[in-house]
Order: sequence, then C-alpha cells, then structure tokens
Amino acid sequence: MKHKSLQVISKKILNDRYVELVVENRLEPFPKPGQFLHILTMGTFMRRPLSIANCTKERMKLIFQIRGPGTRKLSEVNEGMKLDILGPLGNGFPAVRRKGTIYLVAGGIGVAPLLFAAEKFENENRNFKFFYGAKTFKDLLISVLPEGNYQKFFTTDDGSYGEKATIVEVFEREIATEKPAVVFSAGPFVMLKKLSQLCSKKKINAYVSFENVMFCGLGACQGCTIETTNGYRRVCKDGPVFNHKDVKWNVKN
Ligand SMILES: Cc1cc2nc3c(=O)[nH]c(=O)nc-3n(C[C@H](O)[C@H](O)[C@H](O)COP(=O)(O)OP(=O)(O)OC[C@H]3O[C@@H](n4cnc5c(N)ncnc54)[C@H](O)[C@@H]3O)c2cc1C
Ligand code: FES
Repeated sequence: MKHKSLQVISKKILNDRYVELVVENRLEPFPKPGQFLHILTMGTFMRRPLSIANCTKERMKLIFQIRGPGTRKLSEVNEGMKLDILGPLGNGFPAVRRKGTIYLVAGGIGVAPLLFAAEKFENENRNFKFFYGAKTFKDLLISVLPEGNYQKFFTTDDGSYGEKATIVEVFEREIATEKPAVVFSAGPFVMLKKLSQLCSKKKINAYVSFENVMFCGLGACQGCTIETTNGYRRVCKDGPVFNHKDVKWNVKN
C-alpha cells in the first residue's frame, strides 16, 4: 500500500521562499532518486507532488518552494504533525552502469530530486559534477547540497552568486571537453529543452524530470500527460523521469 500517514520530524525555514521538511520514512519499496510523494495539505482539495530530496531507512527530506495555497499550508506544519502521503510514486532516474563522470544539472527547485541522486553517487564513490542555476542567490539553496569533494558549478540570472549565466551555458562549456557518462536534469521546461538539444548534438545520454501539474498522481486521470515519440505519456506514472530523446520538445508539454 502506498498510502501512509507520516510524522513530521523537523522543519527548517531556509528563507522566506523555501522550506525543508524531514518526515519519517515507512515507505515500501525504498524510494529511488527521482521518485516523488503526493501530499495532502490541510485546506486544499488536491494533493501536491514533491520530490524526495533525500532518504534513509528512517527519514525523508523534502525541499520546497512556497508557490501557492498548497505549499503555503505545507510550510505551516509543525514537528510531530502527521502528513497524508502517497508514495513513492513515479519511475525515478535509471541506474547508471556506464563508467565515467555523471552530470547532474539543476534549475531552480529542480534541485530537489538531484540532491537524492548526488547523495547516492557520493555514497557509491561515483565521479559526478553538480551544475546548479537559479534566478537569484536566494533561490540557490547551497546549504542543502550533500557534502563531498565533487565539482560544483553555480549560476544566477542576476549574477548575485556564481556566474551570471544560465546553468545550461556552463554545462555546454563542460561538454565541449568532456563527454559525461550520463546526464540527469530537472528544472523548467525551457531549460530541459535546451539541454536536450545540446545532448542530441553531442550524442550524450540524458534523462530529464518534469514538474507538470498533477491531479490524481496515480495514472488515472490523464491530467499530466506530455507528448513523446511513443505517444502521450503520463508524467506521474510513466515519468516524471524521461529519456530526453523520447520527448517531443516542440509541442507545449
Ligand atoms: C514530480 C514533481 C515533483 C516536484 N517536486 C517539487 C519539489 O521537490 N519542490 C518544489 O518546490 N516543488 C516541486 N514540484 C512542484 C510543486 O508540486 C508545485 O509547486 C506545487 O504543487 C504548487 O502548489 P501550490 O498550491 O503551492 O501552488 P499553486 O500554483 O497555487 O497551485 C494551484 C494549483 O496548481 C497545481 N499546480 C501548480 N503548479 C504545479 C506543479 N508544478 N506541479 C503540480 N501541480 C501544480 C496545484 O495542484 C494546484 O491545484 C514538483 C512537481 C512535480 C510534478
Ligand atoms: S495526474 Fe492523473 S494521470 Fe497523472
């Protein structure tokens, strides 16, 4: 059964826009990076999907941006409260068998699922690089990155931290001299589209995670579909992670 009532262990306000919640983990099977939870927030009718940003046998971390009524309500929960959660949902990022450096490319709050991937690769002693871009310094949640000696690249749109560029521009510079084993990315659609074009040109394997609006979260309502080369696919059930080659980027997904 994927439906659980899970206790909030801690809450940390990262800044006025972002919150970190740690909740107990009693989910089965054990979540994979890229999978998400569908959470019922008090006072909202629909659940809200949030990526699992980190996970141990006992606890899971969620990092979210306060956007509207659902995430606002979720930001008001307190330690000890229970959350009504469906999960783990979705397919997550694939296992990486290929040798070489893995590139993780995050745009904005798309960083959440990639933190879980980074932690896993760090524990497995895999070589990886972390690319992280956001609008401003406030949107760049540097403190949530896992510890380790991996290479990090930061950009902001306004130059308030790191390079004043898009993270895809920095990614493009790196792939000019190195071919990654695989790329995992999450962020806004336009960013993923640009990244996909570069990966196609250089024949790089890449998987992208989408953040489409969801309703049931279970594959029943078709409310979250995107168009792929294999027809329409549900982001909640067939994704949220897709091979970039399968996505039809020229239709508005
Ligand atoms: C697989 C997945 C993983 C996600 N992981 C994270 C994460 O880790 N951290 C994070 O900050 N955000 C994440 N999001 C986005 C997050 O779900 C939305 O920001 C949130 O649902 C917005 O709800 P709201 O009520 O606060 O805002 P509003 O925008 O006011 O919501 C209004 C309505 O739109 C829907 N809605 C709006 N935007 C989205 C959206 N992008 N996805 C789904 N429903 C939406 C809500 O269900 C609601 O019915 C993820 C989305 C998906 C699909
Ligand atoms: S949200 Fe209902 S099918 Fe995806």
